Amino acid sequence: MCGIVGYIGQQEAYPILIKGLHRLEYRGYDSAGVAIINPDDRLNIYKHTGKVAELETFCEAKDIAGTVGIAHTRWATHGEPSDINAHPHYSTNGKIAIVHNGTIENYNVLKQALIQHGCEFVSQTDTEVVVKLIEYIQTSNNCTLLDAVREALSQVVGAYAIAVIDSDHPDTVIAARKSSPLVIGIGDGETFIASDASPIIDYTNRVVYLRDNEIAIISRNEPLKVITTDNKESKIDIQTLRMSVSQLEKGGYPHFMLKEIFEQTETIFDCVRGRVVNDTIKLSGVSDHPDRFINAGRIIIVACGTSWHAGLIGARLIENFARIPTRVEYASEFRYANPVINSDDVVIAISQSGETADTLAAIKLAKERGAFVYGVCNVVGSSIARETDTGTYIHVGPEIGVASTKAFTGQVTVLAMLALAIAQLKGTASRSQVAEVARSIQKLPELIKETLLLNPQIEKLSSTYTYVHNFLYLGRGYNYPNALEGALKLKEISYIHAEGYPAAEMKHGPIALIDKEMPTVVIAPDDDLHEKVISNIQQVKARGGSVIAIVTRGDTTIPKIADHVLEIPPVPEALSPIIAAIPLQLLAYHIAIMKGCNVDMPRNLAKSVTVE
Ligand code: AGP
Ligand code: GLU
Repeated sequence: MCGIVGYIGQQEAYPILIKGLHRLEYRGYDSAGVAIINPDDRLNIYKHTGKVAELETFCEAKDIAGTVGIAHTRWATHGEPSDINAHPHYSTNGKIAIVHNGTIENYNVLKQALIQHGCEFVSQTDTEVVVKLIEYIQTSNNCTLLDAVREALSQVVGAYAIAVIDSDHPDTVIAARKSSPLVIGIGDGETFIASDASPIIDYTNRVVYLRDNEIAIISRNEPLKVITTDNKESKIDIQTLRMSVSQLEKGGYPHFMLKEIFEQTETIFDCVRGRVVNDTIKLSGVSDHPDRFINAGRIIIVACGTSWHAGLIGARLIENFARIPTRVEYASEFRYANPVINSDDVVIAISQSGETADTLAAIKLAKERGAFVYGVCNVVGSSIARETDTGTYIHVGPEIGVASTKAFTGQVTVLAMLALAIAQLKGTASRSQVAEVARSIQKLPELIKETLLLNPQIEKLSSTYTYVHNFLYLGRGYNYPNALEGALKLKEISYIHAEGYPAAEMKHGPIALIDKEMPTVVIAPDDDLHEKVISNIQQVKARGGSVIAIVTRGDTTIPKIADHVLEIPPVPEALSPIIAAIPLQLLAYHIAIMKGCNVDMPRNLAKSVTVE
């Protein structure tokens, strides 16, 4: 996601736009830019890689005069962070500027068609296609900017929140949204636009939340008008803001971590968008390099922390569906282990930040020794994304909370799609098998939404365990790595010691730890190992331990023996870690909050470990 700001009124636009970008920088920060129509009706565009502060330095001594403008702070999805890929993007005639939040799925088809009509492109972004399409339609049909925007949006497939200005019409801003948020602030003789209300609240508390498929026509001297993309008048619902700036930046949540846990309904939708088509998986990183995967002798996954846990699940998915021997290595160990690397090895590097030093070093070593390296990253254009031969972005938007939540579920979702994509290529899974899991992947957002309803129950439950000193997490199969991840979540934000184990390992030592002071979280969905996990729960109970069990809704056995039961909706075994992760995240969050810990910035930790 990114941040959009717009202004039209009697004040100078530039200071309002810049202040608004600072408020939205948490939404994306790899480049920033402004477009302002000056008093001579000239469109001036200034944009720069890096944070908003760097844009401000860049704008010093520039012509920033004007009372109408739009601005953007970017979180790249198409085209790496660079000055030329920064927004605003503009038309060939230099008169129309656009800022965009979202992803245009059919941008390449539209781009090729426009190139056929003589359009030229300067950036790698999907956004530039939209403004060039608007210009092409306006010129070809000799129509108004509004009609050109409306027609262009009817051809676009994907998600957008846009703001458009045209130096031939300096008294108007056009804004529109579909799937990405956009708020309009109604001032006294002035109007504000933003991705959320935090840039608006300093000027007015009267806001309109644009709805999907609506277009707002914001004119300097006329009341706001809203129509639908099929040209029908829309009802304007003005609401009154009652939130602080800090609350607004967190979307009304008390902490970024909780916001990001609850965002997973949307982020998994964005992660899967355009990648499950007609019950098959479409990952360009695989389809562009078929031989690498068909001929792969083995796969080695390298990662750290939560990403390493996702890698353990990914290895099981790949072996299960694609039948390629797969092992998982801590990047920090791999880089110094003098590993044997074969030319038919595929190395998969997983990293949310794309800047983790150990993972980057592991990639460089693997490439030096001839491996083909595939990246699974969140930050477009990050060091790891650029170092790998190809890859798949998880598209979950900036993860601000130090404890990784939405990135973990995004990573596992991409790894599930990757395993299926390779299986499709190698024929190791039937079309019906792939179709069944692909359909379940598309249902993940609604399953996550349902699982998030556990929040009040988990908050209440957390008060029971706020002051324990040790926790055990158990899981089997796909959920053994989830047990490790649940333990990491708890220990890194609540500072309670927690360990994850394969459930069957209890009898090989850890069971000696069990007593009434040692609670155990058991991940026990309805799968092939369910009966085995039940006996592990009974072993814990027999020694006086308390058990918090995560079960599939409708389980009739475990609720009779566990102390607390958290029910998740039915989901195929291979995807169960994505859903079971949600209660684990919420449990860690609420226990930490009840202990008064700083969940967004836990002691001793950093969001990206760029040093050894
Ligand atoms: C997870 O909650 C931690 N923040 C940490 O373990 C993190 O997963 C690890 O540092 C790897 O980071 P990366 O995914 O950005 O490479
Ligand atoms: N897809 C656009 C780009 O990559 C916008 C990304 C965003 O929403 O930040 O520039």
